[in-house]
Amino acid sequence: MIQNRRDFIVGSAATAAMLPLAACGKADMAEYDAAAAKLRETLARDPGMLDLVRYATLAPNGHNSQPWQFSINGGFASILPDLSRRTPVVDPDDHHLFVSLGCAAENLLIAGAAHGRPGQMLFLNNDGGRIDLGLDRGKADSTALYDAIPKRQSTRSAYDGRAMPVENLKLLEAASKVDRVSVLLITDKPRREAVLEQVIAANTRQMDDPAFVQELKQWVRFNPAQALAKGDGLFGPTSGNTTVPTFIGQTLFSQFLDADAENKKYAEHIRSSPGIAVFIGDKADKDHWVKVGRSFQRFALQATALGLRHAHINQPIEVPEARTQFAGWLGMPGVRPDLVIRFGYAPALPMSLRRNVTDVLIPWEISS
Ligand SMILES: Cc1cc2nc3c(=O)[nH]c(=O)nc-3n(C[C@H](O)[C@H](O)[C@H](O)COP(=O)(O)O)c2cc1C
Repeated sequence: MIQNRRDFIVGSAATAAMLPLAACGKADMAEYDAAAAKLRETLARDPGMLDLVRYATLAPNGHNSQPWQFSINGGFASILPDLSRRTPVVDPDDHHLFVSLGCAAENLLIAGAAHGRPGQMLFLNNDGGRIDLGLDRGKADSTALYDAIPKRQSTRSAYDGRAMPVENLKLLEAASKVDRVSVLLITDKPRREAVLEQVIAANTRQMDDPAFVQELKQWVRFNPAQALAKGDGLFGPTSGNTTVPTFIGQTLFSQFLDADAENKKYAEHIRSSPGIAVFIGDKADKDHWVKVGRSFQRFALQATALGLRHAHINQPIEVPEARTQFAGWLGMPGVRPDLVIRFGYAPALPMSLRRNVTDVLIPWEISS
């Protein structure tokens, strides 16, 4: 079953050969689901900073590499880039990394506000890219976005094609408003087809790049045991795929990469999604990438609150030549579009894992 390049790309013959092995791993799936649910346990009424950090780490992030470290001190928290978790091939200038930090910061601020700890964020662009958050005491402001934090997921499946009510589009637009970030919603068929064409062209380029495939393979988790041991990466069932023993997955991953089959799957995914959102920061720097992350996170949470699913179709912004062309197609030559997201209706897939909060925490003295 071939889904897309972020999946465990295994051809049909290989899949058939692996089915008995996949069945062996079934017992672990219950353990996997329990771990994913535990990470998303509801917060206590007056949660400590550690619990707020747990909610922050539920944020989306490129390849689920979780490229962050947290440091806490009373009502203060810092989020720092963890450069050992960079993905230099797909993200050579750490664009996705800083977008991911922005997503985590937004989760922390929303969760804090919901529990009477409204906060402010400061991003020091010239200080290694550290985000500082200060939480105060105030009125609890529990919102639909807050309730959606543990329910949100990237859903990499075909959607059901249902049209999107205009009221939902308005709510998505309103929720994702962040200063110096624009969000374009594309719903008409001809323009969604034009995006699909650009996704296919850029995806083909990426799949022809051995370095891209090798980097992706490093972040794939082929079975529940491997996913649980690492607590990160891209686990097959979160994209609707089967599980296989690690050594088989790692051996067959590149061999069975099939650009045509993947591109067909992308066509099905995009054609079944009634909307595509494009996020564009006013400038191409870390400060704006964090802002884009905050805007995208608010969009994703609002979508989840409305019962909508979303998934990234970022190929046109990841391949530099494709990005230039995409900006031109948007009528914004010279601008850097930041994210491309499809959205629509679909059942949920299994949730992804995160590392334990204690594994992402560093002492305050080291961070400051
Ligand atoms: C900046 C950024 C870029 C991403 N790019 C892609 C992508 O190109 N394709 C994809 O399928 N998912 C992409 N994702 C989604 C992540 O893979 C996903 O957030 C991560 O695996 C955790 O899963 P979750 O979102 O279900 O919690 C991206 C996420 C972020 C924040």
